Amino acid sequence: MLWPLPKLEPSRPLKRIALLTSGGDAPGMNAAVRAIVRTALERNIEVFGVQKGYSGLVHGKFEPMDRSSVANILHRGGTILKTDRCDEFRQLEVRARVAETLRARGIDALAVIGGDGSLAGAHLLEQETGLPVIGVPGTIDNDVYGTEDTIGFDTAVNTALEAIDRIRDTATSHERVFLVEVMGRSAGFIAAAVGIAGGAEVVLVPDSAVELADICHTLRESERRGKFSSLIVVAEGDDPNRTPRLAAALGDLGFQARAAILGHIQRGGTPSGHDRVLASVLGASAVDHLLAGYSDIMLGVRAGEIVRVPLADIRRKKAMSNDYIRLAQTLAT
Ligand code: F6P
Repeated sequence: MLWPLPKLEPSRPLKRIALLTSGGDAPGMNAAVRAIVRTALERNIEVFGVQKGYSGLVHGKFEPMDRSSVANILHRGGTILKTDRCDEFRQLEVRARVAETLRARGIDALAVIGGDGSLAGAHLLEQETGLPVIGVPGTIDNDVYGTEDTIGFDTAVNTALEAIDRIRDTATSHERVFLVEVMGRSAGFIAAAVGIAGGAEVVLVPDSAVELADICHTLRESERRGKFSSLIVVAEGDDPNRTPRLAAALGDLGFQARAAILGHIQRGGTPSGHDRVLASVLGASAVDHLLAGYSDIMLGVRAGEIVRVPLADIRRKKAMSNDYIRLAQTLAT
């Protein structure tokens, strides 16, 4: 997908911006960093790269970046700026100090690449201190309100699928039921996408309480049609023991069941073309939005367009339709 860049007119002087990546790393974050740095330099704006997310802001760890500091990173997973989940930044007085430090260094605005928690932090900083901020959604979970897609989701889904295709070989050869747990925190977007694309007979997401009896019924129906191996994709949710417990329960019911937890394998790795394009387009547009006077927004994508999402809405829950779960099941059984 190639999202058209909105045409914007510069309306405020910007001399220096700071840039950070925050929360879980996501493949494509480097492409967004590169896009922000190179677009800003092109517009004669200096860029300061903050190390380790909000921790770097709190501890004054930021350095100027030039075109060569982002050379050869487009294809690399993780984030060259490093990242963190920073508890200190939750404190009001810490945020006030950060804004003072940034202003003392002549920094006019801050760009944040991260998930909903990181973007909520940027919103507070703007509201409390007036420092202009702009957000770019970067998380494998795709659980950010207001955007259909986030940087890293596509790559993570493809990485999980690669693993699932391998597991399918073993499931088929041994006529087993495999429960494969994917990441996504309390959201089921990775699970739904992986379930549909991986041909899972059952997809379990945190929001829908599926009974063991229902799962059993689906598996038995599959067997009745002559299919003796099945895949169940489980979104991780809040219960770390859900997947092994379910495997044990299915074992007790006579299935040869195994659990595979994919874990952090899904977070790293070479970003897909899709994620690189998304990150490049949103990163470049973030700079132009700052120049055009926008603040306290995140850029996202909806229906083929770049959209502006108020950061005030960022904590709203992004809903997921149960149709995906039903679709996976209909197509696989
Ligand atoms: O938000 C990305 C994510 O990978 C979630 O899917 C997962 O629940 C979480 O981060 C794990 O976080 P950490 O790497 O801090 O354990």
